[in-house]
Amino acid sequence: MGADAGDCIYAGNRSNINTDNYTSTDTREVNGLAEPIIEFSGVEKHYSGADQRHKALDGINLEVYPGEIFGVIGLSGAGKSTLVRCINGLEPVSAGTVRVKGEEVQALSRSGLLALRRHVGMIFQSFNLMPSRTVEDNVGLALVNSKLSQAARKARVRELLTLVELTGKEESYPADLSGGQQQRVAIARALADNPEILLSDESTSALDPLTTKSILRLLRRLNATLGITIIVITHQMAVVKEICDRVVVLENGRIIEQGDVYSIFADPQQQLTREFVESTSNLGKSADLEEAGVAFVEGARKTLVRLKYTTQVVSEALVSEASRRFGVDLNILFADVALIKGAPLGGIVVLIDADAVTKDQVLDYFRGKDVSVEVLASGAERPDATQSHAIQSVDCALQDYRRDEQ
Ligand SMILES: Nc1ncnc2c1ncn2[C@@H]1O[C@H](COP(=O)(O)OP(=O)(O)OP(=O)(O)O)[C@@H](O)[C@H]1O
Ligand SMILES: [Mg+2]
Repeated sequence: MGADAGDCIYAGNRSNINTDNYTSTDTREVNGLAEPIIEFSGVEKHYSGADQRHKALDGINLEVYPGEIFGVIGLSGAGKSTLVRCINGLEPVSAGTVRVKGEEVQALSRSGLLALRRHVGMIFQSFNLMPSRTVEDNVGLALVNSKLSQAARKARVRELLTLVELTGKEESYPADLSGGQQQRVAIARALADNPEILLSDESTSALDPLTTKSILRLLRRLNATLGITIIVITHQMAVVKEICDRVVVLENGRIIEQGDVYSIFADPQQQLTREFVESTSNLGKSADLEEAGVAFVEGARKTLVRLKYTTQVVSEALVSEASRRFGVDLNILFADVALIKGAPLGGIVVLIDADAVTKDQVLDYFRGKDVSVEVLASGAERPDATQSHAIQSVDCALQDYRRDEQ
């Protein structure tokens, strides 16, 4: 959270949400200083002309606090863009209220709405730059209604371009820039009026992974240095993992789960959330491989287990210690460790080759070290010849798989 300054503290890390009786306030406790900068209460949205039984938003309650980077994730059609467009009044809500800085958006006059939109910048997947204007002019357009003199406006544009690391590109045209550079122009334009809130609707979806990282780093820096609150709309959990403080998961217009990012990644409750989380980790890949016909445990005394962090770091040293102590083969198939907000999260998938009694001792040993143990698959006793064949086929398949990955 850019606001390490954060005025808010979280009581419990996450809520286990029953979608029928969800209220946002059960997830956090505020120390009394911070008011939400954005607040949805019982928001519903159905589009006129569309099937009225279909709600694009259905009973949305959420609060975003100043200085947060707040993620909204969901599949296509979940209602993410609708939700974000209700924040700046681009979409009127059908029921409930949206408040920004305490003001009810729906109740604002036209001039009130224009003033609100000056507090709220927005960036999109498609950059929306004017192709016939230079970089400088594209950013400057956001200041045409400002009271700044021509010279002050020019200086402000230069300052913004420095902020997004585009110095030297003032006279370039959008077509001469990479996708990442075009998104930086769009970010500079969105920041022109010193907004307190930045809405980012799939702003990295059209970018390659490295460029995505650089744009996310830029957003994080803007959050940390300017204290700007950022709403990140995405269908990519990797984006949430990279920059968000908290996240809500939307499905069919409803919030099905929310929490701080570490807790959501460490212990997702809903099936959709689990799938999103697994999409960012290779610890679920054993299932993909098994689906593809790689039999990890077939014909052997094999047990495939996933070891995950709770409080203890799962390290190779712990695995070798278990291997030595119990005299068993422990083969690490996958490892995945990420730092989320500076805390390690992840684990390893291990193939254990041991008889039932020793295997239980090994698993108890890990549990005793505060490691979460999940048995993914377990094999029956088979003759040795079959075992060695099974081991070889797993090794070959893994080598192929890792080669494909590189
Ligand atoms: N202008 C509109 N008129 C009628 N229905 C709409 C309109 N805009 C969105 N919808 C419907 O509302 C639902 C939510 O759409 P929305 O664009 O908010 O989803 P999304 O989560 O942003 O999807 P995506 O990831 O594809 O951008 C969808 O069923 C969509 O068809
Ligand atoms: Mg959308």
